[in-house]
Amino acid sequence: MEKKFRKIGILTSGGDAPGMNAAVKSVTCSALSRGVEVVGIIGGYAGLINEDLRPLTKIDVCDIVSKGGTILYSARCKEFMYEEGMQKAIETCKKNNIDGIVAIGGDGTFRGATDLSIRGIPCIGIPGTIDNDVTASDYTIGYDTAMNTIVDLGDKLRDTAESHSRCIIIEVMGRDAGYIALETGMALNAIGVALAEIPFDKEALYARMKKMREMGQHSFVVVVAEGLGAAFGEALEKEIPENTGIEARFIRPAHIVRGGVPTLRDRNLASTMGDKAVDLLLQGKSDLVICSRNDKITSMDIKYALIVDRMFKNKLKDGDLDAFSAEEIESMKALCAERRTYFEDMYDIINTIGC
Ligand code: F6P
Repeated sequence: MEKKFRKIGILTSGGDAPGMNAAVKSVTCSALSRGVEVVGIIGGYAGLINEDLRPLTKIDVCDIVSKGGTILYSARCKEFMYEEGMQKAIETCKKNNIDGIVAIGGDGTFRGATDLSIRGIPCIGIPGTIDNDVTASDYTIGYDTAMNTIVDLGDKLRDTAESHSRCIIIEVMGRDAGYIALETGMALNAIGVALAEIPFDKEALYARMKKMREMGQHSFVVVVAEGLGAAFGEALEKEIPENTGIEARFIRPAHIVRGGVPTLRDRNLASTMGDKAVDLLLQGKSDLVICSRNDKITSMDIKYALIVDRMFKNKLKDGDLDAFSAEEIESMKALCAERRTYFEDMYDIINTIGC
């Protein structure tokens, strides 16, 4: 007779993201409704190592959908990267009848999930990061809220920039990835966007700004991705006045954009992904990450998803593709090409219509 699935453990790891709580709620309610117990693992993988667990009931999660951050707390856990830490985590699962884990976070979280899966603890990943840098998924939980916060801040900054005829340079988070910069740049009518994925032409930016100033434009917004390094935006603050005569101010909203009330889109993405994660675990699946592709919730092998990420970021190491068939490698390349086209198209539009 098939063994009954007893308990799901759920954790949030890496940088927190608005909407993580909606995912926690969804996993909890979905599992409980199928007669499976749920336990919250506190502080990411460290909570598994230290056996810091909290049983979750429907009442515990009823009111958390609108809350930013994560009620389970989050951390990046070094100990879990070593075999000893992982073995302690597995012990905790066995001792507490945890038959499967849902891990919400970014690529570091998924590496942990795949390591546990290989060692016999079924794991399903849910992409939760404001950076949207999970190539396998069109959207990650938290991305939409962070961008809306930036747009709100950017609109306010535009007001003061207009009054003082200045250029505001906003550096936005995203780690190495420029998704946030690209999308918010377009939404803020930026005259230019600088990100690591596409070479930035400063001279062309200056020319556009000077032309617009001659036509009578007072304020300008330039959005810069964190991935270009801390000095990039700060340098622009000096270079823009030197090259255009337009006064500039550099702003780094940083962690502010990681907090706040999650948008409808993030809540619902989290809710559907959470339910799907439980479905898959109860079907006996493991080592998968939930993805949103073309407005459908689907799943992908975690190892495959991690390698697509590296391929997209040009960070493939020798032997990375050895475990994959020619067909799989082709479909990875197609996905990366799709993402590159998206970046190039958005970038061109911004440079054409930003003013
Ligand atoms: O991954 C989310 C993120 O906010 C990135 O955008 C940023 O680079 C990083 O985390 C900041 O990390 P920390 O919260 O550890 O400073």
